[in-house]
Amino acid sequence: MSTAISPTAYNYKVVRQFAIMTVVWGILGMGLGVFIASQLVWPELNFGLPWTTFGRLRPLHTNLVIFAFGGCALFATSYYVVQRTCQTRLISDSLAAFTFWGWQAVIVGAIVTLPLGYTTTKEYAELEWPLAILLAIVWVTYGLVFFGTITKRKTKHIYVGNWFYGAFIVVTAMLHIVNHASLPVSFFKSYSAYAGATDAMIQWWYGHNAVGFFLTTGFLGMMYYFVPKQAERPIYSYRLSIVHFWALITLYIWAGPHHLHYTALPDWAQSLGMAMSIILLAPSWGGMINGMMTLSGAWHKLRTDPILRFLVVSLAFYGMSTFEGPMMAIKTVNSLSHYTDWTIGHVHAGALGWVAMISIGALYHLIPKVFGRQQMHSIGLINTHFWLATIGTVLYIASMWVNGITQGLMWRAINDDGTLTYSFVEALQASHPGFIVRALGGAFFAAGMLIMAYNVFRTVRASNPAEAEAAAQIAVVGAH
Ligand code: HEM
Ligand code: HEM
Repeated sequence: MSTAISPTAYNYKVVRQFAIMTVVWGILGMGLGVFIASQLVWPELNFGLPWTTFGRLRPLHTNLVIFAFGGCALFATSYYVVQRTCQTRLISDSLAAFTFWGWQAVIVGAIVTLPLGYTTTKEYAELEWPLAILLAIVWVTYGLVFFGTITKRKTKHIYVGNWFYGAFIVVTAMLHIVNHASLPVSFFKSYSAYAGATDAMIQWWYGHNAVGFFLTTGFLGMMYYFVPKQAERPIYSYRLSIVHFWALITLYIWAGPHHLHYTALPDWAQSLGMAMSIILLAPSWGGMINGMMTLSGAWHKLRTDPILRFLVVSLAFYGMSTFEGPMMAIKTVNSLSHYTDWTIGHVHAGALGWVAMISIGALYHLIPKVFGRQQMHSIGLINTHFWLATIGTVLYIASMWVNGITQGLMWRAINDDGTLTYSFVEALQASHPGFIVRALGGAFFAAGMLIMAYNVFRTVRASNPAEAEAAAQIAVVGAH
């Protein structure tokens, strides 16, 4: 066994790059979230300029948090996990570097074009066709790097985490390419290839599976690697993880119509979407329980390990949002929740509680390893971050539940003569305190990200990447 760096050591450079950018985009995306949340409290913050209005900054927030922050976390962890579980280097350093720079270029493109008002108007698929094509090319390259690495693995078995990452990569490509089919009429404008209710259905087939495969399946890949690693326990049930995988990917794809209840979509399609969403509770909870039970015999570690706390609390929020989602998919419940802040609360229970917290936990585990350090600069600061993130998420979702139910009930209240009891403005006024609490919760969460940036900076400053590569070399050689 030798510690010299050879070409067989892992490619940690691309992991380091994506990991750092996750923190950078996280701060920008969540900072913008706090800003648009503040605009809803103080409308003067729109500044009367077109490019700083809520309507233009909101899609920039969603693109930055989902694709820039979430996307970089998924790239970083999937490249790390696939190499370590396959005990081989990424198949191509230059293709991996292309995915990094290409992905950053798409994000910069979003930052420029969305405030200028260039948009397809399809939610989570706003980027106009030149950027959408670049995104497709980067994504296909990502698939080549990921699956190429799997084909040259030195292990017989393909670890279950890679199945989840693999499904996330394949389905995201399919969704993006189908939903973006359009006719460009100029460099900055295109029209969807679909019309009317078909367009709506394709869009929400995309939108829901963006949640299912981008915001869930990829992060479950993360869970299956980082929870057992950090807990130093094998996954609770490997058999359950396989059932979890097949059940989840088979069911998710049918649930999109729950975004189109009471619309022009045929009624049978709405009911099918509702039924599939309710069934989806089972694999979601099966996965959550598998993650949680991995801590059997290791619960005491939660007392001293804030990284494990991030991972476990993220699973709790995953369980909560995947219970809430099927309930909201029931048509009668949806008639109350739709268009209200309840949906926004549900979104952020998943986005902050699940997606962001599992990513943060995974990064705190991974960053010292790829920068050649024993651990993060300060464990105390990880703990402070944990509490800011948890309290921030709770403030966010609790205020949105109160607002959502208040709005839903006020909008549907009618007097004996059939007229509306409340005007829209009255419901908006009733929402004002909730908007303030949400902005405060968001500020807590974003402050935690700033603390993370400082901790990462101090860790990286004293880093020793050569040592990390050498450790990787030992792992590769040692495995054979
Ligand atoms: C079993 C799992 C889930 C089901 C059945 C489900 C169901 C739903 C339903 C019924 C809505 C409201 C649709 C509407 O009234 O317009 C919704 C919205 C949403 N959910 Fe979930 N949800 C689940 C899990 C999650 C998770 C884990 C996340 C995030 C990580 C998430 C993110 C979202 C987003 C972003 C929206 C808003 C979409 C939009 O209107 O822009 N969901 N979900
Ligand atoms: C500091 C943290 C955050 C704050 C303060 C924040 C704030 C907001 C606000 C104010 C909106 C607009 C709500 C409305 O239209 O009424 C929004 C929308 C949204 N945010 Fe965030 N956000 C944060 C973090 C995140 C993260 C980390 C994600 C994803 C990983 C995320 C995903 C979304 C999505 C998908 C929507 C659109 C929801 C829908 O259309 O139903 N946010 N956010």
